[in-house]
Amino acid sequence: MNLLFIGDVVGSSGRDMVKEYLPKLKEKYRPHFTIINGENAAGGRGITEKIYREFLAYGAQAITLGNHAWDNREIFEFIGTAKNLVRPANFPEGTPGKGLAFFKVNDLEVAVINLQGRTFMAPLDCPFRKAEELVEIARERTPFIFVDFHAEVTSEKQAMGWFLDGRVSAVVGTHTHVQTADSRVLPGGTGYLSDVGMTGPYDGILGMEREAVLKKFLTSLPVRFEVPKSGRNQLSAVYIELDRKSGHCKKLDRILINDDHPFYS
Ligand SMILES: [Fe+2]
Repeated sequence: MNLLFIGDVVGSSGRDMVKEYLPKLKEKYRPHFTIINGENAAGGRGITEKIYREFLAYGAQAITLGNHAWDNREIFEFIGTAKNLVRPANFPEGTPGKGLAFFKVNDLEVAVINLQGRTFMAPLDCPFRKAEELVEIARERTPFIFVDFHAEVTSEKQAMGWFLDGRVSAVVGTHTHVQTADSRVLPGGTGYLSDVGMTGPYDGILGMEREAVLKKFLTSLPVRFEVPKSGRNQLSAVYIELDRKSGHCKKLDRILINDDHPFYS
């Protein structure tokens, strides 16, 4: 079982990169299952039903979210019926949507869990205790369990990796928009990467127009962040190979495509 996961897709620039490179990545890596983090896909804030369907049409089977899940109000109209959409599981009881979903892949099944960190982020339910609860449910059905941990700090992400080592196939971080170089397979067999990085504008700051971000740092005045409408783009992803029996990670490769890291087929 091989998985491909594309990190935080930002705006139309990010969506264009998915459209262009997902077919090429599929040809190169031949994943059985593809996941996209789409929480910034609609102009940097949230996701719409049209974009959700676009990602499925491009060849993704699961879309994960994060702290921007609710930024586009359209989400409330379709999350209830969007089978392939997974939002952070540790939002309070009663939040629409689900944080754990199962997907058929030939004769096997993949479980996708989305969690959100709490350090320097909104005070949600404990992601560790929620992970414990959901992993137990997932393991009754399948050894192939993918966790997108949407969190700000590397310490919380590393803690989650070690916490779930041996119990899930991979713990992969999102949210910071910068790919980390710490990909590894933990001793228990869990693939780990602190952050996959961002798919979108390459010359902005975390995917946003850098002039506005600079103004914010220089003046502390309120500014509106926008996704650049033109310019160079990048794609960040991770390819994960799993043992067909145990579900353990055999290999986790970082993928970064931009002008400084060209794509080779
Ligand atoms: Fe985020």
